Amino acid sequence: MNMQEDIAEVLVSEDRIKAKVAELGRRISDDYRGEELLLVGLLRGAIVFLSDLMRKISIPVHLDFIGVTSYGAGTRSGAVRLVMDLETDIAGRHVLIVEDIVDTGKTLACLKEKLTARRPASLRICALLDKPQRREVPIEVDYVGFKIPDKFVVGYGLDFAGGYRNLPFVGVLKESLYK
Ligand code: IMP
Ligand code: MG
Repeated sequence: MNMQEDIAEVLVSEDRIKAKVAELGRRISDDYRGEELLLVGLLRGAIVFLSDLMRKISIPVHLDFIGVTSYGAGTRSGAVRLVMDLETDIAGRHVLIVEDIVDTGKTLACLKEKLTARRPASLRICALLDKPQRREVPIEVDYVGFKIPDKFVVGYGLDFAGGYRNLPFVGVLKESLYK
């Protein structure tokens, strides 16, 4: 696998990601000023975004992870399954879910329902990428980095069959690789 050769087009460059992450960090810091925030990262795609974002947040944060899986080895959405739960009791906490991308919306809708039942003080969603054209389930995303067209993308945490997560930008994967 040659990662760079498998990319048809760079959709969001490293520089644009960096600027947007800083902007989101400032907004989140302003919105939660005076509160203690719990960041919940969705494994595994969100970890690159989350690790950059949390360093641009200037208020105190705590960190936890939750594992859900909605994709197998391919690019088609399957069933949403909880594979790893939080360690933190979120009752009464201000929770911000951090996700790499919102596609059909099924993953976040399902997760939001599960976490709301645990009575957090507030529950919001931050996603680096959003593909609005693909939405099947309505879901409110409070902080969005970039709206992107309906193309399969990899890099900056996002994978195809487990690979490409370490690319420093978001790129469109060549269709010949999965069609
Ligand atoms: P949803 O439940 O359809 O919104 O799926 C969201 C999940 O699908 C994300 O957390 C990603 O893991 C995965 N996903 C959706 N679109 C892409 C893509 O273009 N590249 C890589 N993963 C994707
Ligand atoms: Mg994901």
